Amino acid sequence: EWTPELFIQSTVAAIREKVGDGQAICALSGGVDSSVAAVLVHRAIGDQLTCVFVDNGVLRLNEFEKVQQNLRGKLGLNLVAVDASKRFLDKLAGVTDPEAKRKIIGNEFIAVFDDEAHRIAQQTGGVDWLVQGTLYPDVIESSSVKGPSQTIKSHHNVGGLPEDMKLKLIEPLRDLFKDEVRRIGADLGMPQDILQRQPFPGPGLAVRILGEITPERVALLQEADDIVVDEIKKAGLYQQIWQSFAVLLPVKSVGVMGDQRTYAYTCAIRAVHSDDGMTADWVPLPYDVLKKISSRIVNEVRGINRVVYDITSKPPGTIEWE
Ligand code: XMP
Repeated sequence: EWTPELFIQSTVAAIREKVGDGQAICALSGGVDSSVAAVLVHRAIGDQLTCVFVDNGVLRLNEFEKVQQNLRGKLGLNLVAVDASKRFLDKLAGVTDPEAKRKIIGNEFIAVFDDEAHRIAQQTGGVDWLVQGTLYPDVIESSSVKGPSQTIKSHHNVGGLPEDMKLKLIEPLRDLFKDEVRRIGADLGMPQDILQRQPFPGPGLAVRILGEITPERVALLQEADDIVVDEIKKAGLYQQIWQSFAVLLPVKSVGVMGDQRTYAYTCAIRAVHSDDGMTADWVPLPYDVLKKISSRIVNEVRGINRVVYDITSKPPGTIEWE
């Protein structure tokens, strides 16, 4: 019978055996899969594993600090945190096409990770292994013949192989589903706020800022997003909902604040139920929760004066707006 305990025991032993006194690296997103994979490998080989966490400029409010506190502070990982936000935002300046944004972020990530991998290799005398948090559904998805021949969205995940380094892969979660990964994480003593996190896309807030991505717009969406997550958690709905978030639209409209005219951005609220992200139903959030979110956003976020609600399911809508 499968138990998290037995899985951890046998996996840790197997990784230890395989890696010996070699060195491994891993790209962390702060999400469930990459974090559990890293903690598991860290159990096996300790600081022979170096984790890399990149600020791509489109993380959520205070996420760069929070992930470091969690993974380095609470879980004791050997973590290199790279603030590459300027580099990403410079490349994204003036770009409005959704696929172009995705490509830039994907490529830039690989470049940053590649730099770090080489630096770590120099310091440690060579890196042999790359740890990835691939799950069973990812394995299936990438091996199956895709239906529509047209790419809907080019997906980007943490990962990306430094090509000249000839790294061998460690994918400890390859046979598992998400719920099993959560159970293993819990058994490894990982905090619930990592294990129960809603999915967050690799390109981050970039796919939720329509039109040009500027530091000002990122800051606006970070604040609005933080309010949405906070109120959804307070209402006790966070874990029942697949994803709930805000989207910043490049649309300005006229409003009034006190006796002052305002002319500011619109933000959309999106909440969906889903099993796997492939299809999704919009969630009828309770009116009092929507009311609280809306009034907090227009009162607390200077630069947003109107909030609308996205009532589109997938298909035909996608979950993210870009
Ligand atoms: P869409 O918007 O295609 O999203 O309906 C389906 C699910 O995938 C997530 N998503 C991504 N995850 N890298 C990721 O790791 C990506 O590039 C990416 N794009 C979308 C999205 O948040 C939803 O859960």
